[in-house]
Amino acid sequence: MILVTGGAGFIGSNFVLDWRAAHPDEAVVNLDALTYAGNRENLEALRADVGHVLVHGDITDRALVDRLLAEHRPRALVHFAAESHVDRSIHGPGAFMKTNIDGTFTLLEAARGYWGALDEPSKAAFRFLHVSTDEVYGSLGPQDAPFAETHPYEPNSPYSASKAASDHLVRAWHHTYGLPVLTTNCSNNYGPFHFPEKLIPLMIVNALAGKALPVYGDGMQVRDWLYVKDHCSAIRAVLAGGRLGETYNIGGWNEKPNIEIVHTVCALLDELRPSAEGSYTRLITHVKDRPGHDRRYAIDARKIERELGWRPAETFETGIRKTVQWYLQNPDWVQRVQSGAYRDWVQQQYAA
Ligand code: NAD
Ligand code: DAU
Repeated sequence: MILVTGGAGFIGSNFVLDWRAAHPDEAVVNLDALTYAGNRENLEALRADVGHVLVHGDITDRALVDRLLAEHRPRALVHFAAESHVDRSIHGPGAFMKTNIDGTFTLLEAARGYWGALDEPSKAAFRFLHVSTDEVYGSLGPQDAPFAETHPYEPNSPYSASKAASDHLVRAWHHTYGLPVLTTNCSNNYGPFHFPEKLIPLMIVNALAGKALPVYGDGMQVRDWLYVKDHCSAIRAVLAGGRLGETYNIGGWNEKPNIEIVHTVCALLDELRPSAEGSYTRLITHVKDRPGHDRRYAIDARKIERELGWRPAETFETGIRKTVQWYLQNPDWVQRVQSGAYRDWVQQQYAA
């Protein structure tokens, strides 16, 4: 079996669902603190699946992590759990340091103890896969080459600094202790179960509610968008064949400015759920920019393609259509995640 952390969040829950479909004979123990971003409902399809166990707990709890490793004896640990929203890291960085840095440290130490005591074949087979982000590389200029794995680390937000710190810990545990680690650095994901604090789901749910679509600054910041299921297949490929101690950049070869993304979402909604008041583009509102806002991210994903034969299956056109359709088909999910705590966040972030 494998131990997954953060498997009730956006990417983690997509990964667990895909894993159970791709590997029906390999169970998943899923350790998740069920923060505001974690949602049991994302895993509803696995309710009757004995090959999935959700453990409600914190990755900083060393005794709990030790117990799960000893009881379940996983052949791999796939680490998604994190505080993940840049804007929240600007308002309150503390939780990011605790989960992203202390939490990763706790997992590395627990994994080191467990792995060190395994018999030789199990020791050779064990993997610690750390899921990270392209944001650790900082911001690109318009003419710069996309981020390769050799790009210097230049994190600019409390979130990306905490992820960069966790990447360094993972690297050090390999070089110093020989822990068999793999690190992935991925670009912006989108798709089902994406929490509506992030750009694409926020635009969809706000448009459907007739609310403003808040575009930071001039909206010309560029992100490299990847459909979440493609990120999941890339992680499976790295887990299966990645070289120990290596990092793999994952991206969609799909750079787009934010304003174009917002127009695409509006056009799809105009087609699939037209509004009597006219195009959803009427709701686009330019608001104050994010402090320290990175201008451009882009991933050079040639290494994972060359070494592991991975390429994204979805184009942006197919992926964004599936995503908008998913939100239209799941209004109850949307309504339930927009709880009191969510409304407080929206008020704090967008009131002005
Ligand atoms: P998310 O915020 O949707 O989910 C995070 C999950 O981690 C939640 O289920 C939450 O309950 C859990 N969690 C938080 N703190 C925890 C703790 N202390 N102990 C146990 N569980 C805890 O995040 P996401 O967007 O799914 O991102 C998952 C991972 O992928 C993160 O490590 C993130 O840095 C990375 N990543 C995300 C993107 C993206 O576009 N979303 C891109 C590249 C990399
Ligand atoms: O690049 C990978 C990263 O992508 C992940 O590591 C992060 O966990 C994930 O949250 C995401 O970070 P971003 O900051 O790029 O994503 P977000 O959806 O918050 O913002 C995308 C872009 O849209 C960014 O340039 C900011 C802008 N934006 C965002 C929001 C929420 C707006 O213009 N308006 C908004 O209301």
